[in-house]
Amino acid sequence: MNIIVCKNYDEMSLRSAEIMAEVIKGKPACVLGMATGSTPIGLYRNLIRMNKAGEISFKDVTTVNLDEYYPIAPTNDQSYRYFMNEQLFDHVDIDKAKTSVPDGTAADPEAECRRYEEMISLLGGIDVQILGIGRNGHIGFNEPDAKLILDTHVTDLTASTIEANSRFFASEADVPRRALTMGIGSIFKARKIILMVSGAEKKAAVSALLSRTLDTNFPLTMLNLHPDVTLVCTADVLD
Ligand code: F6R
Repeated sequence: MNIIVCKNYDEMSLRSAEIMAEVIKGKPACVLGMATGSTPIGLYRNLIRMNKAGEISFKDVTTVNLDEYYPIAPTNDQSYRYFMNEQLFDHVDIDKAKTSVPDGTAADPEAECRRYEEMISLLGGIDVQILGIGRNGHIGFNEPDAKLILDTHVTDLTASTIEANSRFFASEADVPRRALTMGIGSIFKARKIILMVSGAEKKAAVSALLSRTLDTNFPLTMLNLHPDVTLVCTADVLD
């Protein structure tokens, strides 16, 4: 695993954007794996800046997002579709028809997960996947458990994730209890992974990752098996 230690969030965002920009420049019709949450917002700001400066183009880019709450409408300002439009897609030259987020309104969520997994395979996998982590070590919404699921699936959010994500909702009761998420195997369809982490509250999860053991109670530890992971983190995560 490559590790890039940054002095602060802004540097982490810039370094991650530079890696992504290299992928886009090398393969203009690439497939980018996107994440939501507070971690990648600065990265997306940098990508918007680079796009406006003419350094990179999203014209031929396809994107797939890791996850979406269930149930939730795309017009809900807490949906991950809304987030992606607002934080990136509305500000760059991307064709929105080439952007995918699991459908939080699907009548049959299991069928939607099967469709999503097949779509990722048909795209030929993901060139570079952005990942953040939860305080509990989740990646996507693959929550700590005795078993981890390989394919895109419906999952129940843990109490810790509901509590952590309630900061974005009017109250904890408003946080959806379920989500559609790419599985560990779907994430491993990415040829390259950028794992972004900032904030001392994620230290325990990062220390589990760096202990070089596999622990389903810290799903991010599975990334030790992937051949091309770059951890881009702030120094306080490693103290
Ligand atoms: C988001 C996602 C989640 C977040 C994680 C960290 O699409 O899949 O795993 O990356 O919950 O969230 P933040 O960045 O808000 O701390």
